[in-house]
Formats: sequence, C-alpha cells, structure tokens
Amino acid sequence: MSGFPNLTVLDHPLIQHKLGMLRERSTPTKIFKELVDEISMLVAYEVTSSLQLEEVEIYTPLEGTKVRRLAGLRPAVIAILRAGLGMVDGVTRLIPDAPVGHIGLYRDHDTLQPVDYYFKIPPGAASRDFILVDPMLATGGSATAAVRYLRQQGARRIRFMCIVAAPEGVRTMARAHPDVEVYAAALDRQLNERGYILPGLGDAGDRLFGTV
Ligand code: PRP
Ligand code: URA
Repeated sequence: MSGFPNLTVLDHPLIQHKLGMLRERSTPTKIFKELVDEISMLVAYEVTSSLQLEEVEIYTPLEGTKVRRLAGLRPAVIAILRAGLGMVDGVTRLIPDAPVGHIGLYRDHDTLQPVDYYFKIPPGAASRDFILVDPMLATGGSATAAVRYLRQQGARRIRFMCIVAAPEGVRTMARAHPDVEVYAAALDRQLNERGYILPGLGDAGDRLFGTV
C-alpha cells in the first residue's frame, strides 16, 4: 500500500461489507463474533497466498499423478490474547491441521505498553511459517512484542494479520520488524489520546467477549 510498504489492505467487497457491520456500535456480541470469524477467514485466504508448495506423487482411482501440497511443517496460527482468539477458527477452517499457539498480552491502560502473561507456541519455530492474529493494530506495542517473543524462539517467517490497523501501528511494525508483512481489512485514520483507533470498532476484546 502506498506509503506503507509492509501493509496489504484487503479491499474485497465481502470483507468491506462485513467490516462495516463490525464497526457499527449496535452490533451485538453474537454477530460481532461471527463477523470477526468470517472476516478472518477471508483475510487468511490472502495471507496464505504466498505459502510454499511442494510436488508429490499420488494415485487417483485411475492413475498416478503429481499434485502440489503445502511444503514442510504446517503454518502455526498464533493468537494474541484475548481478542486474537476470535480470529483463530477463521484461519484454521482453511488450514485445519495448523497448530495453534497463544501469546498473552494486555495493554496497560495508562502507559499503553504491552504486559505479557502467557506464552505457548508449537515446536519447530525455525522451520515453520507463523500467522500472528489480533484484530487491532493500534500503537503496535502488542504486535511488535509478540513478534519479538516469536523470534526469541527461532521463528523466521512471520505474517501479521489484523482487521483494523492504525498508521502508527503499521509504521511501528515496519521499523521494529521490517520483514513482517501486515495484512488488514482497513487502514484507519489515527489513534485518539487513549490509544484507540479512529474510527475503529472500539475495544475488540470487550466486544468479542461481552465484557463491555
Ligand atoms: C487490544 C488488541 C491488541 C492491542 C492493540 O488488546 O486486541 O492486542 O489492544 O493495541 P496496541 O497496538 O496499542 O498494543 P487489549 O490490550 O485491550 O487486551 P485484550 O485483548 O485482552 O482485551
Ligand atoms: N485495542 C482495541 O481493542 N481497540 C482499539 O481501538 C485499540 C486497541
């Protein structure tokens, strides 16, 4: 995207239609969850478009042939807790045997700095692709910290997938981890003084889990 070389914004009409419903403040928790799930699946289709394939021989009921399948270890889906949990099913519907990891982070309300409380990812980090999921990329503190933790475990190929990104977060990611591609359904205008994305969709975790 122009001015943001690390960012791909998915302009697909279905994604944009669903995103509009997601932003609407009157959308109830049940529908909000379903929309996050559906948008995640649609965004994941694009995020996975550069995965490597390998050729293998198989037999159809009629004869032998060569087919292509995902190469190497399955990509791991890593959810940044809590809100990233809402995106996992949408991705694993496309890659059902993808292992799922979790990184527990919350943003301190005063400093806006990420505070970590949990980390568990599948083994083989150096030879897997990682799809890191969190609906919101605001200051970028949480996402860049999550990428740093993955790297400390040896992860090399990391893609970050969100629903709404702020320019500040995209730039922070580009500075901290220039090789991490960011995929989003929208690039919003700015952050407000409390670090919320404008126009955004509010607090994604609270809306997903009904803790508003
Ligand atoms: C939200 C969101 C991201 C983070 C983004 O989580 O899901 O993880 O804020 O903000 P940042 O880019 O400024 O770090 P939150 O900290 O509210 O935790 P929660 O998911 O547990 O509600
Ligand atoms: N986290 C959210 O859930 N929403 C925002 O707008 C910013 C951070």
